[in-house]
Amino acid sequence: MSHSTIPVIAIDGPTASGKGTVAHKVADRLGFHYLDSGALYRLTALSAIRRGTDLADEHALAKLAEHLPVHFAGPAILLANEDVSAAIRAEQVGNLASKIAALPAVRQALFALQLGFRKAPGLVADGRDMGTVIFPHAPLKIFLTASTEARAQRRYKQLIDKGISASMKDLLSDLKARDDRDMHRAVAPLVPAEGAHLLDTSNMTADQAIEEVLDWWAQRNAK
Ligand code: DC
Repeated sequence: MSHSTIPVIAIDGPTASGKGTVAHKVADRLGFHYLDSGALYRLTALSAIRRGTDLADEHALAKLAEHLPVHFAGPAILLANEDVSAAIRAEQVGNLASKIAALPAVRQALFALQLGFRKAPGLVADGRDMGTVIFPHAPLKIFLTASTEARAQRRYKQLIDKGISASMKDLLSDLKARDDRDMHRAVAPLVPAEGAHLLDTSNMTADQAIEEVLDWWAQRNAK
């Protein structure tokens, strides 16, 4: 199989829309690889915090992104051999990831790394610009959304389940700020790709959303 014929399912959408769960399970069901592109921005943010990198220094941040000592070991994400799977999920890291993701040099530095995940028999790629920039020829593109309230509720439940205290009011305002940044940045803003199927999961369970994506994939392959 030549590289460009390896199938990709691109799933984009805002933060806490549930696309991580959906993308991951769809990959499992199809036996495809999975790319959590947000994790790469989060890893860059975590490295910057730990190293005390000047957050105004785009060049230094891009260098960090380009040389991330990252290793995906099943569900674990290792940074220089340390399991940082939990650390990169912190709200502070997510917020900084959204800020540095607006920097063109950082996006460019992560470009080749993301293309490298396209391996046989296929890839499910999850992010903001999978269908618009990284895999524009993906045979199936999905834009997965949910209302701000539904997303804040989900994030709240995730945090409380982990024993982390949270305030709905703060979560809602953080989500809105991140949506605003992700959708209105100059480079690779979060917008539905041309030809993307829209999937609003506000009133859906994760399982229903997974079945819908698998149906679209089956329909596409039946053509
Ligand atoms: O999906 P996530 O919440 O883990 O992503 C964290 C941040 O990274 C998000 O706010 C914006 C950025 N991001 C991006 O700009 N492009 C992607 N393909 C994935 C994430």
